[in-house]
Amino acid sequence: MTQKQTLTVRDNRTGDEYELDITDGAIRASDVGKIGKTEDEAGLAVYDPGFTNTASTRSAVTFIDGDKGILEYRGYPIEQLAESSNFLEVAYLLIYGELPTREQYERWEHEITFHTFVHEDIKTVMRGFRYDAHPMGMLLSSVGALSTFYPEARNITDEQIRHEQIVRLIAKMPTLGAWSFRHAQGKPYVYPDNDLSYAENFLSMLFRMSEPKYEPDPRLTKALEVLFILHADHEQNASANAVRSVGSTQVDPYSAVSAGIAALFGPLHGGANEAVLRMLKRIGSKEKVPAFIEGVKNGDERLMGFGHRVYKNYDPRAKIIKKACDEVFEVTGVNPLLEVAQELEKIALEDDYFVSRKLYPNVDFYSGLIYEALQFPPEMFTVLFAIPRTAGWLAQWIELVDDPEQKIARPKQIYTGGRTLDFVPASERWK
Ligand code: CMC
Repeated sequence: MTQKQTLTVRDNRTGDEYELDITDGAIRASDVGKIGKTEDEAGLAVYDPGFTNTASTRSAVTFIDGDKGILEYRGYPIEQLAESSNFLEVAYLLIYGELPTREQYERWEHEITFHTFVHEDIKTVMRGFRYDAHPMGMLLSSVGALSTFYPEARNITDEQIRHEQIVRLIAKMPTLGAWSFRHAQGKPYVYPDNDLSYAENFLSMLFRMSEPKYEPDPRLTKALEVLFILHADHEQNASANAVRSVGSTQVDPYSAVSAGIAALFGPLHGGANEAVLRMLKRIGSKEKVPAFIEGVKNGDERLMGFGHRVYKNYDPRAKIIKKACDEVFEVTGVNPLLEVAQELEKIALEDDYFVSRKLYPNVDFYSGLIYEALQFPPEMFTVLFAIPRTAGWLAQWIELVDDPEQKIARPKQIYTGGRTLDFVPASERWK
């Protein structure tokens, strides 16, 4: 039997000692709350802006070892999944916890394929946006709007209803994402083609014009599958946390996922790939890289696509994407900004500023170059992240809904404002 692990804490304000249980390398914040608690005084709180050292959940979905640069979905290394699986299989694995049997996979693929169409009224919702609406704004609104089309989705404890919403969300995301792209271009929305695979169908809805059948280059389809797999989940990141936090109110999954999309939109999260490409364009040429790096070191701006809250080593996804770049550029020709990116990486990896802070390229550093080579404008990059991440958000959401320990997310605060002030009416204040 393993010995019980504990932590003894002495409160120097009172001299009292407390023994806190340690489970899985963590103490419970509620046990900390017992320290110094009296009838009149609140117990000790833990102050952790940005949740840098607070575990909000137990999870069996994704494992990351940031120091070693390891990423696994349900225990399977990301490198093996990217090499040998496809996005729909990975989505199943994330959500249902096991690799599917042949029957399970075929049923899953069939279900997803036959739910790719959206209600025609959603088209009207999307048409209502201005011509220059950001596709992420359109995506998060239209996913939120889906909750009004499927009111039964509010029944989050019914497993069958839950499964139907999961299928709908994964199936419809490419349709909504592609339509937000076509909208900006003033082109007609393309309906799904159920003869095509998940990634092929997405490319068809994005790029098909008058040809009766869209046939993407298989190398590009494969690259998109790999990118989808790499982006499918990343444990308790800002958007997963948004989905869990909103989901903890027991709202329907469409509303919870649209909160995830909103979180992903920000430039410090999924919006970073868009920011990377704009940065590379602004730098423009290899010769201008040293001056740019100096600016970063002086605190003028950040080197976008570098650094990560968890990885203090090369992001394993960045390694795989760098390889995928070569395959895509074989088809599309080399993106001239690749040279600028490689020079940035070379200089940054040798520079003490980046080395001492353990800042390495993250998933967004090279993905933008591929997306641009595939003809996507930068505004679309985060949409390309949101589509596969929906699988991860749903896996996190299911885990939350089934976890008896979870409660409505409601952090504490340390109040720093005034108290018991006497209100002075405007007629007296403005004399
Ligand atoms: N360029 C320059 N300096 C940086 C960078 C960067 N990209 N990232 C961190 N630093 C510095 C930061 O200034 C700080 O230095 P000091 O200790 O001297 O004040 C130190 O490194 C620690 O930074 P931090 O902001 O405390 O670290 P964090 O864990 O809160 O932030 C991060 C993580 C990803 C927000 C940050 O590294 C960043 O802003 N990177 C650029 C944006 C980016 O590429 N985001 C994509 C993340 S990966 C995709 C995803 O999962 O969404």
